[in-house]
Amino acid sequence: MNVQGLPIGVFDSGLGGLSVLRSLRAMLPIEDVLYYADSAHCPYGLRAPEEILNRSVAITGTLVERGAKLVVVACNTATSVALQELRARFGVPIVGLVPAVKPAVAVTRSGRIGVLATPRTACGETLAELIRRHANGTAVITVPAPGLADLVEAGYTAGPEVEGVLRPLLDPLVASGIDTLVLGCTHYPFLRDAIRLLVGPDIAVIDSGEAIARRTWDVLATHGRLRTGAEHGGLSLLTSGEANAVGATASRLLGEPVTASHLLV
Ligand code: DGL
Repeated sequence: MNVQGLPIGVFDSGLGGLSVLRSLRAMLPIEDVLYYADSAHCPYGLRAPEEILNRSVAITGTLVERGAKLVVVACNTATSVALQELRARFGVPIVGLVPAVKPAVAVTRSGRIGVLATPRTACGETLAELIRRHANGTAVITVPAPGLADLVEAGYTAGPEVEGVLRPLLDPLVASGIDTLVLGCTHYPFLRDAIRLLVGPDIAVIDSGEAIARRTWDVLATHGRLRTGAEHGGLSLLTSGEANAVGATASRLLGEPVTASHLLV
């Protein structure tokens, strides 16, 4: 098989990266995707950087061994810890993602934006550097959200459990006068409706999915790796977690039947 026909590798600490997958599919519908959900080690947001780095290297190695022509790190936390090392070690293009601070600064009118992120991303140097480079006078209020990704991982995207975690995080942000909220973790787009109910219609809620899909398209095009043809791309889902449970939650999140296979790396 020529390189164009090979799959795009995607990984996340768990199923949050499926929100990135949705954007990839919208922009690159004929590409096959090989997705690794590191569900046995989710959440990354509370783990030590060395552990996140080791997991990211092992998973990327597996995706590359299985033919990935490009790897998308569909996790803000893993990107902030491991992107440089992955690029140094592997011979395929690696695309990472960062919270959408720059686009948020471009659209805010109140000059105040909020960033909801995992504890690791919230206190990491990547976000601090993004704010230094792009805030440009805008007040950026970062809110660490321990436990939020776990809810999505367990298949909860609405209801009292979700509201109970979200409300204490979002009420102070709304009260502080933000008009733009950045979803700084790939799990959170699955909570968009629940977040919208709490922040109301006037706050823009943005994530990085579309930007990363566009970037992936560009990188594949630059490397001559875009797939050609008319067929629809398929999804293979691998997980370090319990395959049936992960498959069931993935099906719920994507709204289509998905089967997962267990693979320890
Ligand atoms: N989905 C991940 C992110 O974008 C991490 C969630 C977690 O494992 O803490 O940061």
